[in-house]
Amino acid sequence: MVAGGDRREFGKAMVDISHPDTLFAGLPERFQAWMSHGDRVAKLPSGFKILAQSGGIIAAAANENKKIWGLQFHPEVIHTHHGKEIIENFLTRACGCKREWTMSAFIESTVRSIRERVGEKSALCGLSGGVDSAVAALLVHKAIGDRLTCVFVDNGLLRKNEFESVLANFLEHLHLKVIGVDASDKFLGRLQDIEDPERKRKIIGEEFIRVFEREAHKLGDPPFLVQGTLYPDVIESTSVRGPSAVIKSHHNVGGLPKDIKFELVEPLRELFKDEVRKVGEELGMDPHFVYRHPFPGPGLAVRILGSVTSERLSILREADAIVHEEIDRAGLMRELWQAFAVLLPIRSVGVMGDDRTYENVAALRIVTSMDGMTADWAKLPSDVLERMSTRIVNEVRGINRVVYDITSKPPGTIEWE
Ligand code: XMP
Repeated sequence: MVAGGDRREFGKAMVDISHPDTLFAGLPERFQAWMSHGDRVAKLPSGFKILAQSGGIIAAAANENKKIWGLQFHPEVIHTHHGKEIIENFLTRACGCKREWTMSAFIESTVRSIRERVGEKSALCGLSGGVDSAVAALLVHKAIGDRLTCVFVDNGLLRKNEFESVLANFLEHLHLKVIGVDASDKFLGRLQDIEDPERKRKIIGEEFIRVFEREAHKLGDPPFLVQGTLYPDVIESTSVRGPSAVIKSHHNVGGLPKDIKFELVEPLRELFKDEVRKVGEELGMDPHFVYRHPFPGPGLAVRILGSVTSERLSILREADAIVHEEIDRAGLMRELWQAFAVLLPIRSVGVMGDDRTYENVAALRIVTSMDGMTADWAKLPSDVLERMSTRIVNEVRGINRVVYDITSKPPGTIEWE
């Protein structure tokens, strides 16, 4: 391998297959791949053969006797066509793995290991209102029954009517033992005049834990805390894979204070969102709930840029509800990863009737994604966008302009803070 030189490759490239066996079995002779490297293979070790090239550069090679395969492009990214098939071929044909991993096997083995770990003790689960913590709770409930108590906190940062409707769903449909705690005054009090997003996250994370600790105390201090942490949360919050920088200190993991006294149970730590949804469906959850969009732990606090006040929260709630209603009406909920409004810390001039207005600006953030780690802005039909904009400006007092965010992730993040 030599570094640098004039043959660096970044971005899309066409790969030509010369040996369509094992790794490339069943694939076209030529396909698009995503390159990102500043070095190239100058000479192959003996026993290796070239499997594919891109413009004369070695793109794949193997020593089948030693069972070593190497790729110079990224099969895991969406821009590499047939990447999934390459990974599948590697696992099934090169490594001889069998397709034995099913959701029901996952549920069975997870429930068993939770039962072994928790034993006769009890656990507390913080429900966020989203699908992850609900699925985590259902798995633990399956393992230890009503020795699991769930706590659903109204932190004052939830969407319109969310606390009441989600609480009813947990109690009536999922039959979980849930305590609803209204702690909104405490959260909003501590958030007063806080503008820095990381400070907001830390405060909210800490306050959550304090609420749990109070509730836990009332319940005789269960030693375990259940959380719906997913694999992307783990990756983005810790540099488990070498040099990927910590992007936001968030995602359940980073928000926890250092002196936490619970042992964590995180049954979804190795799953992606689509897998969690499948587990939820398998556990009999209502599809409407399973396909809810992700909602960040710090809630609307990271969608109000600048300081969070009750007034700004109610403005954002109304705008956000309209975005949701219109997405639902257009039947687009499942196609989208998230759709929400962000309240910007600027005001702009407008005209309504004969009056000049000087009000807030809302940005719409509507994205498609597989796992939240990368995302694209949604190319929504213009009539849907138009309806949202018209309704928000007409119906929400305090907003006179709506803009559409057309930044993908990367380089943007999904949330604005
Ligand atoms: P970003 O903004 O990092 O978000 O592109 C990726 C996904 O994570 C969600 N998100 C959070 N979830 N606590 C959470 O539980 C957080 O602090 C947080 N910040 C972002 C975001 O909504 C998106 O789905």
